[in-house]
Amino acid sequence: MSLDLLRIRTETPACKHLIHFNNAGAALSPSPVTQAVLAYLQREQEIGGYEAAAEAHAGLENFYNAFAQMLGCSPQEIAYADSATHAWNKLFNAIDFEAGQTILTGQSEYASNYLAFLHLAKYKGVKIKVIPNTEQGIIDLSLFEAAIDQSVKLIALTHIPSQSGVIHPAQAIGKLARHHNILYLLDACQSVGQIELHVDSLGCDMLTGTGRKYLRGPRGTGFLYLKESCRELLEPAEIDLHSAAWTAKNSYEIRKDARQYESFECFVAGKIGLGVAVDYALNIGLDVIEQRVKRLAAHLRAQLRHVPNVQVHEHGTQLSGIVTFNKQDKAAEALHKYLQIRGFNTSVLRLGNSQLDLGQRCQADINRASVHYYNTEEEIDRFCATVDAF
Ligand SMILES: Cc1ncc(COP(=O)(O)O)c(C=O)c1O
Repeated sequence: MSLDLLRIRTETPACKHLIHFNNAGAALSPSPVTQAVLAYLQREQEIGGYEAAAEAHAGLENFYNAFAQMLGCSPQEIAYADSATHAWNKLFNAIDFEAGQTILTGQSEYASNYLAFLHLAKYKGVKIKVIPNTEQGIIDLSLFEAAIDQSVKLIALTHIPSQSGVIHPAQAIGKLARHHNILYLLDACQSVGQIELHVDSLGCDMLTGTGRKYLRGPRGTGFLYLKESCRELLEPAEIDLHSAAWTAKNSYEIRKDARQYESFECFVAGKIGLGVAVDYALNIGLDVIEQRVKRLAAHLRAQLRHVPNVQVHEHGTQLSGIVTFNKQDKAAEALHKYLQIRGFNTSVLRLGNSQLDLGQRCQADINRASVHYYNTEEEIDRFCATVDAF
């Protein structure tokens, strides 16, 4: 199956005036997503917030069905969150850790996740074991396996890091987690919407993501997946009248699905919009998206390697749409600004935000260009010429 690039670019109006290579930051939403959000906000203004939500019941339920279809799970295993960080923390904080237990993670773990580990280590005395990456930047599977012992309570992995273009072997880690019967929390924030994800073949118990990146949803949206058979192993740290019912003066009952991690109040327009964004991706096909993103990123890496004084940081074979690079003797921030003035959106990766990974392998901040399926080879060639001119 191929994709209708003309229609896709027409439905991404900014393609006319912008070359957006900041999809790992926030991708451009397609028109149907923006229209769904605006139409809902309009109804809130016309008839009231609660009334608009009741009227939009089907669109809100679509959120769960669309994610379930994409991830290969049941709609009852999906919950809405207002960011990936909140989704991840809700699950992480629901785990009953005891002092001395271990969190097994990788060198590319997302900064906020690692901060949560440090916080728990400080207050609960859990241990954090970080498995280094190989020369290729991929988590070392044999070291990972060797590190598993009775103390490991949680395996936490970031599938595609924000600071490098590698794809970690989430499925192989899932096999180990299942074999040793250890809870497995996968941060799929950069992979969801970019590559095909099926929770069963990944072998994860929990998976979290955001709306605004490769899914092309609105900002301020996210989601979580919680495997039904794991739900009772966890205990939500906070509940409200949406996630639980007050059954008598001194009793309550928590919902018996993943929505026990939701709150009553949320960005309803965003939730509807994110459901539409998932439908949009499903219509194109996640396999088609994955192939095109990988092809474009490979083209970008190859072209950048021809630009004098540019160093591309990815070397492995399992690579995503994220490309990281430096131009010798040029500050990343200065190159970023130079590109932005000329209509190219990219981002800068700061060493301090990735102490275990970037902080170990680079001397200074680096540049990141992240492509999506609506980008083109021609945009990439223009981009490389502009990097060359700097
Ligand atoms: C790997 C990864 N995990 C989590 C997050 C956090 O997502 P959010 O900003 O939606 O909380 C990000 C954001 O950049 C990310 O790259």
